[in-house]
Amino acid sequence: MQDSGRHARQHGSHSGSTLAIAMMLPLLLATTTPVNAASSLRDWKEPIILDRSGGFQIGGTIIHNPNNTNQTLSCDHGYMEYFIPWTPRQTSLVMWHSSSTQVWQNRWDGGQGYKDMFLRRGYPVYLWDGPRVGRANWSCRPITYIPQYRDQGNFAAWNFGPSFMNWWPDVQFPTKDPNAWQQATSARYDEFDTYENVLLHAHAAAVAADSGKVGDHIVYLTNSAGGLRAQLTAIRSNTTNIKGIVTYESIGYVYPAGLNITQDSFGGFGPIVVPLDEFKKLAKVKAIQFVWGDHRPRSDKYVQQSLLCAALINQYGGNAEVLMLGDDAGLIGSTHIPFADLDNDKVAKLLDGFLAKNGLGGYTGHWWDFLVSGIQ
Ligand SMILES: *[C@@H]1O[C@H](CO)[C@@H](O)[C@H](O)[C@H]1NC(C)=O
Ligand SMILES: *[C@@H]1O[C@H](CO)[C@@H](O)[C@H](O)[C@H]1NC(C)=O
Ligand SMILES: *[C@@H]1O[C@H](CO)[C@@H](O)[C@H](O)[C@H]1NC(C)=O
Ligand SMILES: *[C@@H]1O[C@H](CO)[C@@H](O)[C@H](O)[C@H]1NC(C)=O
Ligand SMILES: *[C@@H]1O[C@H](CO)[C@@H](O)[C@H](O)[C@H]1NC(C)=O
Repeated sequence: MQDSGRHARQHGSHSGSTLAIAMMLPLLLATTTPVNAASSLRDWKEPIILDRSGGFQIGGTIIHNPNNTNQTLSCDHGYMEYFIPWTPRQTSLVMWHSSSTQVWQNRWDGGQGYKDMFLRRGYPVYLWDGPRVGRANWSCRPITYIPQYRDQGNFAAWNFGPSFMNWWPDVQFPTKDPNAWQQATSARYDEFDTYENVLLHAHAAAVAADSGKVGDHIVYLTNSAGGLRAQLTAIRSNTTNIKGIVTYESIGYVYPAGLNITQDSFGGFGPIVVPLDEFKKLAKVKAIQFVWGDHRPRSDKYVQQSLLCAALINQYGGNAEVLMLGDDAGLIGSTHIPFADLDNDKVAKLLDGFLAKNGLGGYTGHWWDFLVSGIQ
């Protein structure tokens, strides 16, 4: 370093600094990369710069002890954790799990999940635990936890393969790593797939959406049973804050009355039937996309339901589509949770396209914010 400094003074700063950089580059690579330089350059990521992060409880109710009405319990609220980039885009991405928030935090192999990917892109990210799951644990109703021996069921339900440990040959999961499977199945929360719980979650989420605490440009990203709850949330909300819904393998749909569709008022997977006026609120949402992986045939009951739901939303002037990751985008081996798959960068690019196409990718602030944050 001493030598290159002296050289710069003798021969002018321009050539000197060029030489200094040329000399430093191999040094930097040698000292900061234990593996090889090429792969480390490929893995280079922009830093995540946050303005703030935190969390809050929202929705819920206060019940009184019938034996002593002075005693209360604050319960059935949801819990929202948030991460706000230093230079945020306008759209808030609310990541709504069905199994646990972990699915949004990391890829199956521990690599970058949707949370970090979209923070790097400048989107405010919200991780939502609906009432009675995860960190929104205080239930207004008695809860009995009974161990259900779910591991084998998780494997098939998440479409890692047709049966336990019988992987799809092309599956986007690190099948050789037993720790990855262990991580996936043990992250799961106890959950309540009942009609009552769908209503409870939709109400708490609608209160959150209407509160302004999640911004006024909300896009829900949902997985599995979260999709039905988000559809109902858009119907229950009294503001126009909800701008978009992207469901990954939504199990359950909302339909308008008058179509001879029978509501299931017990389970957590629909169908839910609402008056036509209410259904039309889904047509007011700027953009809705129902996404399916390639291991879900078009004949699947829920794929069929999503096609009908999208067609009805569009019939009332809305903007809904079904995206088949295999047929439409050429992605193979997707699981039920494609945003955690090994090719989740490709799944994320499709979301970039959806947000941009529907005018949901912009910045709120001044034009120079865009320059400061870097062009994505
Ligand atoms: C109210 O009192 C009854 C009778 O003592 C008792 O069985 C019940 O558990 C009490 N309820 C609560 C919420 O404390
Ligand atoms: C409830 O609070 C009121 C007002 O402080 C008090 O008069 C009453 O005795 C309390 N009741 C019980 C059961 O503690
Ligand atoms: C909350 O946590 C407690 C303690 O782990 C557990 O017994 C209870 O079932 C949980 N509540 C819900 C709603 O899952
Ligand atoms: C929306 O307004 C209706 C009518 O006032 C009310 O019953 C409902 O609870 C409101 N929804 C939310 C999420 O606050
Ligand atoms: C409505 O559905 C029921 C059962 O799904 C069927 O038996 C009935 O014929 C249907 N009615 C009409 C008008 O389509």
